Amino acid sequence: MDIALVGSINIDLVYRVPYIVNNGETLHSVSHSVHFGGKGANQAVTASQLGADVHFIGKVGEDEFGEHAIKNLQDKGVSVDSVRKEGATGQAIIQVTDVGDNAIVLFSGANFLVTPKQIEQEATIISLSKVLLLQLEIPLDTVERAVEIASQHGKIVILNPAPSQKLPNSLLKNITFLTPNETELAQLTGIETTTEENIRSACSLLLDKGVGTVVVTLGSKGSFYMNRKESGWVQALSVDTIDTTGAGDAFNGALAVGLCRGDSLRSSIEFATKVAAYVVTQMGAQPLIPDSIME
Ligand code: RIB
Repeated sequence: MDIALVGSINIDLVYRVPYIVNNGETLHSVSHSVHFGGKGANQAVTASQLGADVHFIGKVGEDEFGEHAIKNLQDKGVSVDSVRKEGATGQAIIQVTDVGDNAIVLFSGANFLVTPKQIEQEATIISLSKVLLLQLEIPLDTVERAVEIASQHGKIVILNPAPSQKLPNSLLKNITFLTPNETELAQLTGIETTTEENIRSACSLLLDKGVGTVVVTLGSKGSFYMNRKESGWVQALSVDTIDTTGAGDAFNGALAVGLCRGDSLRSSIEFATKVAAYVVTQMGAQPLIPDSIME
């Protein structure tokens, strides 16, 4: 197995709106659609479509949404033997504007019932993988336990710190690749990320806490990476954006695939940039990715 993914599974209720609704306002949506989502599931589906062998550890609800979400993962080639059922499936209410910007309200549901105990029961899965890939839509103590197990086995750990929250040093020191966007980087470090100098300072702070490499995604400005040996920028690709939902997830899923294959850091980031650029040209967070993307 290549990737063990500990993370969230949601159903996305997507509303196209002329602009993001204001406080106290009632706004008509232009259209409504339902998609499979959840940062964990989006990353798993991307990685699987790109050829990785992905094993998902998570939870859906004991409801119809849960059934559909599991079937979707299976259809996309993700192993779901470690996806349990409890409570209600997570949901995301997503507004998407004409220029593809979004705003998301989350109902965590079953994602918040993924416990450290469930992770301990799946420790073998983590120990058999090359990479552990996680996000922060499940409880932090669960993330911490999974990372502990992975680092005991010397695995590559990729943490996408989204949605953002403060992270303890005991967790950061075991992260091989941390992949915040610029807002998350600012929230994690307390350093404004408006200039390259500030971004470098924020990354340095995280390296001092033991993170192996920081990869910062900055939307149209591309991405910046930094570790003790190298740093650099990878340019964003210019595309016609339809929906930015899941772009970060596609980036993380593809980055994990590149690193799993043993590609260099820079070429893994270039590959991830290409995959994320494709995803924003499609509606929904889990579009079908054409084989041509591998060329
Ligand atoms: O990153 C996008 C995802 O965030 C959506 O699919 C939604 O479910 C939320 O988890």
